[in-house]
Amino acid sequence: MALESLKKIEDALEQDEVLAYKANYEVFKGGLSRNEIAKYYDKWAETGEYDTHLGPNRYTGPECAARAIAKNFAENEKSTARILDVAAGTGRLGAELYNLGFRNMDALDPSEGMLNKARERQIYTNFINDFIGLENPVPAEDNAYDGLAVSGGFGEGHIPVSALHEMIRIVRPGGIICIAMREEYLDYVSEYKGTLEPFMQNLERDGKWKLLTKDTITNYAFGKPGVVFQFVIS
Ligand SMILES: C[S@@+](CC[C@H](N)C(=O)[O-])C[C@H]1O[C@@H](n2cnc3c(N)ncnc32)[C@H](O)[C@@H]1O
Repeated sequence: MALESLKKIEDALEQDEVLAYKANYEVFKGGLSRNEIAKYYDKWAETGEYDTHLGPNRYTGPECAARAIAKNFAENEKSTARILDVAAGTGRLGAELYNLGFRNMDALDPSEGMLNKARERQIYTNFINDFIGLENPVPAEDNAYDGLAVSGGFGEGHIPVSALHEMIRIVRPGGIICIAMREEYLDYVSEYKGTLEPFMQNLERDGKWKLLTKDTITNYAFGKPGVVFQFVIS
């Protein structure tokens, strides 16, 4: 290949990377209301750009979370285990779980545009268009789920710390909660800094859940590390 064409390809790739980074930064930078965030995601999904901007080449959270939570279920449990994908977005985590044998999954997300993309995958049973962790409880019974997984739902203006109570409420004793997020958010997102991990530890002290694993992922998003927490409900 001529050197000139190679340079053009390199420039285009670099440009894609910058656009993807910017699109992600805009919604995680802070200063947006919850409704503005949901609307941003509506548009991001509707243009079809969410899945290309945050494809597996740049963002591995869904695969990491799916692999982690799947290890807690025996092969013969996977088709019936009821799993809630929280902040499901366009359904990448659900798609990974489906590939691993899960067949009884629901999706929760405040962005109808993201959920519409998730619907197209035909892997979820129920769709809940809601925020988690705000004043109103989400429309799910106590102990309804065997597992709950979140990938990419924690960040500036996204899922609040108080949502952990709600997650615990809807997962049965012995069930699993798996949270994958960017590691640096623990240190600079105002809602989580010095709060999220102590809150998790207090919940353990109060006998609500028990930490099973906390793993670091070197390349979680845009080359930055992530962390995957897993808890078992007491
Ligand atoms: C970066 S996307 C992650 C989507 C998907 N889980 C994935 O990994 O591709 C973040 C998602 O969090 C959702 N979200 C934001 N605030 C939320 C809240 N309070 N409760 C539930 N989901 C929320 C957004 O609508 C968006 O779909």
